[in-house]
Amino acid sequence: MQTDDSVSVVKNDLQKSRGEFCVLIGVTGSVAALKLPLLVSQLRLLSGVDIRVVTTEHAKHFYNAEEVSAKIYGDKDEWKLWRQRSDPVLHIELRRWADLFVIAPLDANTLGKIASGICDNLLTCVVRAWDTARPLLFCPAMNTAMWQHPITAQQVSRLKEFGYVEIPCITKKLVCGDEGKGAMAEVSTIVEVVNQYIEKPDESFQKA
Ligand SMILES: Cc1cc2nc3c(=O)[nH]c(=O)nc-3n(C[C@H](O)[C@H](O)[C@H](O)COP(=O)(O)O)c2cc1C
Repeated sequence: MQTDDSVSVVKNDLQKSRGEFCVLIGVTGSVAALKLPLLVSQLRLLSGVDIRVVTTEHAKHFYNAEEVSAKIYGDKDEWKLWRQRSDPVLHIELRRWADLFVIAPLDANTLGKIASGICDNLLTCVVRAWDTARPLLFCPAMNTAMWQHPITAQQVSRLKEFGYVEIPCITKKLVCGDEGKGAMAEVSTIVEVVNQYIEKPDESFQKA
């Protein structure tokens, strides 16, 4: 049940602080979501960065929220928050708040949804409402067989056409035991790319 209090809690939480670079992490139902606590803690080491997380329901299976040092928003928050016209719409508040959106990991399901414009949960609504003048980075992660399906390359290209930046997956032994391409980029790589946008946003755009 939504209360005035929950509205003000979210409004306060998404108040931008002057000079801070606001990073929104999207996390989807890949086993690489296990790395969310590490990703958050490594990004926190960058100076002047504030972090929030938007999660899919399936992603929640892979991490322990208590180990994540950032506020996590999910689908229930979106619907709990809105009861009447004056209430904030969470996916719009999040897109306003964030200077950069990094989806790590981006699983095959949500990749497909984003490529075709589907927005049926909080994360994909933020993507669909995203201000394309701001960077959106995505880190695919899936089993090698899924990665090799011909639709994957088409969908990754589509996201790049939208102006989103791929942080490519890597080859390694996957959690399922298969060895091959499809593992999420290393956390250190993701942090490095995010840092490029914080330090030199214009140059990073040109590289993309
Ligand atoms: C143990 C387990 C591991 C999974 N790992 C991946 C993965 O690495 N990449 C992927 O694309 N899907 C993976 N899936 C399948 C997704 O979780 C499934 O497609 C789900 O519907 C994704 O929902 P979401 O995109 O809303 O998070 C995995 C499923 C299970 C049960």
